[in-house]
Amino acid sequence: MIRSVVCGFGAALPKRAMANAEIEGIVETSDEWIVQRTGIRQRHIADETETTASLGEAAARQALDNAGLTVADIDMIILATSTPDNTFPATAVNIQSRLGMHHGFAFDLQAVCSGFVFAVTTADNYIKTGLARRVLVIGAETFSRILDWTDRTTCVLFGDGAGAIILEAQQGEGTTADRGILTAHLRSDGSHMEKLYVDGGPSSTGTVGQLRMQGREVFKHAVGMITDVIEAAYEATGLTSQDIDWFVPHQANRRIIEASAKKLGIAPEKVILTVDRHGNTSAASIPLALHHAASEGRIQKGDMVLLEAMGGGFTWGSVLLRW
Ligand code: ACO
Repeated sequence: MIRSVVCGFGAALPKRAMANAEIEGIVETSDEWIVQRTGIRQRHIADETETTASLGEAAARQALDNAGLTVADIDMIILATSTPDNTFPATAVNIQSRLGMHHGFAFDLQAVCSGFVFAVTTADNYIKTGLARRVLVIGAETFSRILDWTDRTTCVLFGDGAGAIILEAQQGEGTTADRGILTAHLRSDGSHMEKLYVDGGPSSTGTVGQLRMQGREVFKHAVGMITDVIEAAYEATGLTSQDIDWFVPHQANRRIIEASAKKLGIAPEKVILTVDRHGNTSAASIPLALHHAASEGRIQKGDMVLLEAMGGGFTWGSVLLRW
């Protein structure tokens, strides 16, 4: 059977890193509060020359180099983002053009912090149905542009950045020993919209709007939703937490990540944590974490890797793959 195998990865961060101490000068907060409640120590913030498209392009170029490929080898681009450069056209098409790619097709996918998991699952299905052979999957965000910098309950949490992987069709045996995506599980429930949303948009207010969140409410639902989709992955494959080499969760909050790993029985040393240096970069957080861990040689070919995310909507999902 056809498997979608990771053959390259890349990442890009804005030049400017903003430490918690700097935010102390913007809203009434403290490094101690932020670290204790979230694990975040710094985040990167885009300057006026850096956008979702430019960061996504840089991550994509790095993934192509890492895979030893050029755009001629790519059939399709999916960009997971909630902070596109323009309302339309899709920022993925902008990135396609920046890469000098004039064949194939590109589109954006919007599932907020679960965006990368939704995009990887979508790419996997295009590959399995033979509609694409190699797909560039990017998560890129500039959440700093939709933050209310007077609201200390949200502005301390988020950062900007981009990550990318390339998925390639390879023949597998149809067992869990195969490299590539083994199973994926997606969920959404729009009745939770008011807990995490942006209070504007082209059709409602004609403005971009700013992020609004009931943090406690998000926290309350997060661990249950995360464990639900991971248990679905275990049920589909017969695997358990013992079989996982690396747990790469969406990096929203250290406490949510640690509580989820504990509930699932995943050992702390198998958890990839980058929220301390990146903050919550929404759809970019998982590919940034994958890039970080794979570049350090922690995630290696053949390792079992579990991805999960939960975010606005609510949306949530998991992907289990052999790297
Ligand atoms: N600095 C200092 N004090 C603060 C700050 C801040 N930045 N923010 C809030 N406080 C205060 C509050 O005003 C409150 O004070 P009060 O008790 O006098 O009213 C106190 O700290 C406690 O506030 P809570 O909101 O109850 O704090 P909590 O322990 O719940 O932590 C947090 C807040 C970190 C937002 C937590 O709820 C959380 O992590 N929620 C999940 C949010 C999340 O991860 N969202 C993203 C997931 S989806 C996505 O990625 C898009």
